[in-house]
Amino acid sequence: MFLKNHWYVAAEADEIGAAPLGRIILDEPVVLYRKSDGSAVALEDRCCHRRAPLHKGTVVGDALQCGYHGFTFDAAGTCVAVPGLAGPPPREARVRSYPVCERHRYLFIWMGDPALADPAMVPDLHTHGDPGWAATGERMPVAANYQLIVDNLVDLQHVAFVHRGTIGTDDSDATLSLDRGDGFVRLTRCAVDVPTTPIYRKQGFGERCSQTKIITFTPPGNVTIEITTNEMQIAGREPLSSHILIVNAMTPETARSSHYFWASTRDFDIDNQQMTAFFHRETLRAFNEDKDILEAQQKCIDLDPEAPIVHVPADIGSIQARRMMTQLIEGEKPGHGIAAE
Ligand code: FES
Ligand SMILES: [Fe+2]
Repeated sequence: MFLKNHWYVAAEADEIGAAPLGRIILDEPVVLYRKSDGSAVALEDRCCHRRAPLHKGTVVGDALQCGYHGFTFDAAGTCVAVPGLAGPPPREARVRSYPVCERHRYLFIWMGDPALADPAMVPDLHTHGDPGWAATGERMPVAANYQLIVDNLVDLQHVAFVHRGTIGTDDSDATLSLDRGDGFVRLTRCAVDVPTTPIYRKQGFGERCSQTKIITFTPPGNVTIEITTNEMQIAGREPLSSHILIVNAMTPETARSSHYFWASTRDFDIDNQQMTAFFHRETLRAFNEDKDILEAQQKCIDLDPEAPIVHVPADIGSIQARRMMTQLIEGEKPGHGIAAE
């Protein structure tokens, strides 16, 4: 069961062009393309004639022509032409169209009731598109439920184990504080005077650092992680420091697979292309480590979804995030109002 009346990242903005792009989102086939004025369109990726995927077709003007028998649909999903048919297309010949909103260099899609699609509800992932920030990232397909990825990002206790060789260090004594507010769960994780992680050693940081991570979850699957790293005092020079923000937007593909849109963003040295390439490479390396454990975890869960699990205090963030999602999903069931929290 997915939360429907929220915006999900469907694609990075620059993934969408004049050629149709097919993508499964929340178990629904969706096709994305741009009209001649540059605005993006999202339609059901299943022709109403014989259910061929429309992404196999061609954009003709602002419409999409099915690649099988040529039915043509306008941007609202109405069939406007049927080859060989004298007279107008049958009235019921149409596919669903989805509201979209292009912001922060992402294309967001609304999978629920179109009447409720409010652009003011688009999640704030602004560092991905803000000219004052350098951003680099991509879509990573992960064969795991999106909530497992949220758990992973909210509980950074795993970093010392999964990411030993990349972004991890022994910081298990870090303090953790939780703040749950209207529509968000926030954790602040502070590690003081711990061994510097390999990724910061590569940037020239000394042996020990302090690091604060502010992790914010917002429904349905967004997690931003703001990381401030300060080198411990070193004789003979000013200590180095760094401030980055990792954007993570998880969009369910199916119950067991996700589109994981990640980006490493920073507000310093933003024109330094070498540094951007460094952050892309190193972040991707770390997130592939997550992908590996998450996909293995999903397979293990599938063998026995009812197998018991145990909670410890470090799980507080993911428990609160899941609780918030459960309330929202319950709120969308018939007979409930939409939960505000
Ligand atoms: S399946 Fe699309 S036109 Fe026939
Ligand atoms: Fe991780």
